[in-house]
Order: sequence, then structure tokens, then C-alpha cells
Amino acid sequence: MAARTQLLVVACCILAALSNVAHGIGVNWGSMMSHPLTPSIVVGMLKDNHIDKVKLFDSDSWTVSALAGTNIDVILGIPNDQLKKLADSYDHAKDWVKENVTKHLYDGGVNIRYVAVGNEPFLKSYNGTNLKTTLPALENIQKALDAAGHGDKIKTTVPNNADVYESPSNKPSDAVFRKDVKDVMLQMVKFLDDNDAPFMVNIYPFLSLYLNADFPFDYAFCDGQGEPITDKGTQYTNVFDANYDTLVWALKKAGAPKMKIIVGEVGWPTDGSKNADVKLAKRFYDGYLKKVAANKGTPLRPGHLDVYLFGLLDEDLKSVEPGMFERHWGIFRYDGQPKFPIDFTGKGQDKMPVAAKGVQYMPSQWCVFKKNTTDMKTVAAQVGYACSNSDCTSLGGSSSCNRLDLQGNISYAFNMYFQMKDQDVESCYFNGLAEIVTRNLSAGSCLFKVQIVSAGGRLGGSALGASLLAGLISLLSLL
Ligand SMILES: *[C@@H]1O[C@H](CO)[C@@H](O)[C@H](O)[C@H]1NC(C)=O
Ligand SMILES: *[C@@H]1O[C@H](CO)[C@@H](O)[C@H](O)[C@H]1NC(C)=O
Ligand SMILES: *[C@@H]1O[C@H](CO)[C@@H](O)[C@H](O)[C@H]1NC(C)=O
Ligand SMILES: *[C@@H]1O[C@H](CO)[C@@H](O)[C@H](O)[C@H]1NC(C)=O
Ligand SMILES: *[C@@H]1O[C@H](CO)[C@@H](O)[C@H](O)[C@H]1NC(C)=O
Repeated sequence: MAARTQLLVVACCILAALSNVAHGIGVNWGSMMSHPLTPSIVVGMLKDNHIDKVKLFDSDSWTVSALAGTNIDVILGIPNDQLKKLADSYDHAKDWVKENVTKHLYDGGVNIRYVAVGNEPFLKSYNGTNLKTTLPALENIQKALDAAGHGDKIKTTVPNNADVYESPSNKPSDAVFRKDVKDVMLQMVKFLDDNDAPFMVNIYPFLSLYLNADFPFDYAFCDGQGEPITDKGTQYTNVFDANYDTLVWALKKAGAPKMKIIVGEVGWPTDGSKNADVKLAKRFYDGYLKKVAANKGTPLRPGHLDVYLFGLLDEDLKSVEPGMFERHWGIFRYDGQPKFPIDFTGKGQDKMPVAAKGVQYMPSQWCVFKKNTTDMKTVAAQVGYACSNSDCTSLGGSSSCNRLDLQGNISYAFNMYFQMKDQDVESCYFNGLAEIVTRNLSAGSCLFKVQIVSAGGRLGGSALGASLLAGLISLLSLL
């Protein structure tokens, strides 16, 4: 009997250890794209690449259902535009839980682990829009989860941008919550602590580099080449560790020194800006994934890091307000093709990850500029129209298609619009300046894309960013 109990104990420990090992790296699966891949294809990609944790930005029923029976841990999302409604009405929170959580929790259903309430709701650039609604929405959702009997297994949290805390001296130990959000952050930390829920933070070494021309380049990467910074005898060789430990300090000062931290987003874009390319993305992920696999953690929190990479796929409808790189965070392209070798296990194998299987493409044809046109004034207007209603973020100064000649630029814009419109013949007219061809104009890193056949999707068309507009104006001035 005793021996049997012991055996059971051993078996339990082995199982516990195995389940720890199994839960490696997570990814963010965003859906701000005009032509999303079918959810079952994406779930296939996750399985083929042994990714067993996924974070969503909403709770779309088709997507969530595709994760049933997979053993993939799921973080559901609640977009910011739903916070007010959920804050104002507990009944609505109960409906939300019933429709988006309880429905998926049958035997063999979906492994829902967390509900992420809002997405970076306190971002400085939002000017306090969600300041009053986020915490009440968080409380209502957790209360509704508890009432439905899911509260022990499913916790709520709020994905925060790392801009909710700062350190005037850049040393982690000088951490403070940002002044305008300090009160709400302290209340949130207390609520999360009382509920045994984690703090979620998005940390972007790329943005440190992007936003500060003097930022020490190597310090953005985790391969030990950064010039160390010392804080109370602790050495930091990369900005990720320093940023994470700034949060650890902020939590400690807020009375929650042991609060679990989840890195909700971390990653590197591959296009649309200086330093956004596949070579540097590979360097970042190589160093970062090795670090995660080694269970080294950070100086203040040694051990396992709970991490969700951003992101799985490129999203051509993301706002380019922060920069043109926004649409190029994918480890995989829009069609589920890998961009660079990456080893999610952190063993450093130089291998391409497994591409999406079963993707259906539209015919191999492109919309291009008819070379014999001389009416350049009309061309400029047409290019402006094409780009405002599609995605020309790969045309910018440091982007993958920056070496196209003028004709190439125009063709690129026309083709992006044509593909956005599902290759509709009428969308390749442009006042008679365009024609459909079967010759692939892709060259080097510049891809003239052929869109995929997609069942879902939001309507295309999105605002131009200021910098892209500037690029276009410079193009127009050449005409
Ligand atoms: C459930 O989630 C979906 C997708 O995020 C959302 O559109 C819907 O309104 C939610 N249901 C309720 C009852 O709020
Ligand atoms: C925040 O304020 C700035 C400056 O006043 C403004 O340009 C921006 O549009 C505002 N953003 C939001 C989300 O309200
Ligand atoms: C321009 O090219 C098109 C075919 O691409 C042709 O039909 C047309 O006649 C050409 N026009 C001139 C002025 O060369
Ligand atoms: C192509 O377009 C980009 C951005 O729109 C611009 O920066 C570049 O100068 C253009 N190239 C030529 C040759 O016109
Ligand atoms: C066009 O060429 C690029 C390489 O230059 C390739 O990656 C892409 O698959 C090609 N597209 C089609 C539809 O053949």
C-alpha cells in the first residue's frame, strides 16, 4: 500500500515535470488582416511547430472552436472597445463568459487559461480613454468567471504596455508606475494579487531602438554582446532583462513581490523600418529563445519565463500610426510561409519552421503599370488611391521594396490594391494605366504578392501613416 502511494507520488511528479516541459513558448495570433488563414490551418501550423500556448485578441467563436481538443493553452482577448460595456454591466460580463468561455469548456473542448481584458488600455497615446473602464471590466469578468465555477482554472489579467512603468534613471530599482496611471495600476495589482492572477506585460526591445537614436544597439539583443549596466550590484546585458526587472521592482514596491508575470508580447518586425529586417529578427529570436529555453529568467526572477511571441502572422490591416513596421511582426508571412529560420525549442537549430499546409492561393497573376503611359499626373493620384486602400508599407525608405524603380513602385501599389480586392478585374483598371500580367515581378526580398483565398476577413482599406504619406508625396514630386 505504502509502496503504491509512493509510486503514485513519483508518477505525479513525473507528470508535473513533463507538463512543465511541454508548456514552452507561446505565440500571439492576431486577426487584423484582410485575408486571414482558415483557423484550422493556423491550428495545424501551431501543432506542426510544437507551439502549445496561444494568445488571441478577441474571442471569435470560429477561431476558438478550432482550438478544441488540441491541448493548446489559450488566452482569450477582449478588445478595448468592449471595456465600457463590460464595466457598466455585470449582466453583460456574465453573458460574455457564457458565450465565449463556458460554451468551449466541454470534455475535449478548449483549454482556456486566461482572459486578457483590454489590450494595452493605458497606452500613453490613448490619453486616458480606458482609465475608468478597465478595472471595473476586469472585476466583472473575474466575478462572472467565479460565479460560473471557472475561477480556479481561468484567471483574468490586463495586457499592459511596458509604458505603464518607467525608471527615471533607467535602473530597474528606480521603478515607478507612470504618474497618470499610478492609482489605477496600484488598484489593479491589488486585485490581481487577491485573485492569484498574473501581471501581463508587453516588452519590445525593438521599440527601444526605434524610439531612441542613441540607444546602444547590441543592448536590444539577448546574445550577451550588450555593454552591461549595473544596478545595486546586479549586471544587465540586455534591455529585456532590465525592463522586466523594472516591473519586478514596481510590483515589489506595490506590495506584490511574488506576483506571477506573463510576457504577453515580445518580438521583432521584419520590414517597414530601419532595423526591421529578417536578419535582425533572427538575431533577436535566436538569443531570446535560447535564453527562455535555458530557464535562466532575469537577474531578479531566475527560472522559467512565461512568454508569448508577437506575432504569428503579418497583419495588413494594423494601424501604421506607430510606424510602418506594424504590419510586419509576423514570424510567418500573410500566407503562413516562414520568413527566417527559428527554433521555438531554443536549441538553436538553423531550420525553417513548418509552413501552413493546405493554403489556397488566387491565380498566379499580378496587376502592373502599363509601361507606355506618359500621363504621370494621373498616375500619382491612382497610386495614392491604391495605397490608401491596401498596404504599401514595404515601399518605404528602409523597406524590402525600396530598390524598385519608379515603374516598379507604381506596379507594386497597383498590385497590392488588386490583390486586396481579390484580383477583381475591375480593380486593375486605374484609368487605363494598368494591366494584368502573369509575369512574377518579385525580386530579391521584394515580394509582389498573390493573395490567398480566404473565407473570413475584415473589409480592406486603412488609413495611411504620416511617414508613408511623406514617402508618397516624395514619389509624387518625382512625377
Ligand atoms: C464574445 O466574443 C465575441 C468576439 O470577441 C464578441 O463579438 C461578442 O460580443 C462576445 N459575446 C458577448 C455576449 O459579449
Ligand atoms: C491624444 O492626444 C493627442 C494630442 O492631443 C491627439 O493627437 C491624439 O489623437 C489623441 N489620441 C486619442 C486616442 O485620443
Ligand atoms: C500601350 O500598350 C498597350 C498594351 O499594353 C497597347 O494596347 C497600346 O496600343 C500601347 N499604346 C501606345 C501608345 O503605344
Ligand atoms: C518608390 O516609392 C518610395 C515610397 O513611396 C519612395 O521613397 C521612393 O523614392 C520611390 N522610388 C522611386 C524610384 O521613385
Ligand atoms: C514570385 O516569386 C517569388 C520569389 O522571387 C516567390 O517567392 C513567389 O512564390 C512567386 N509567386 C508566385 C505566385 O509564383
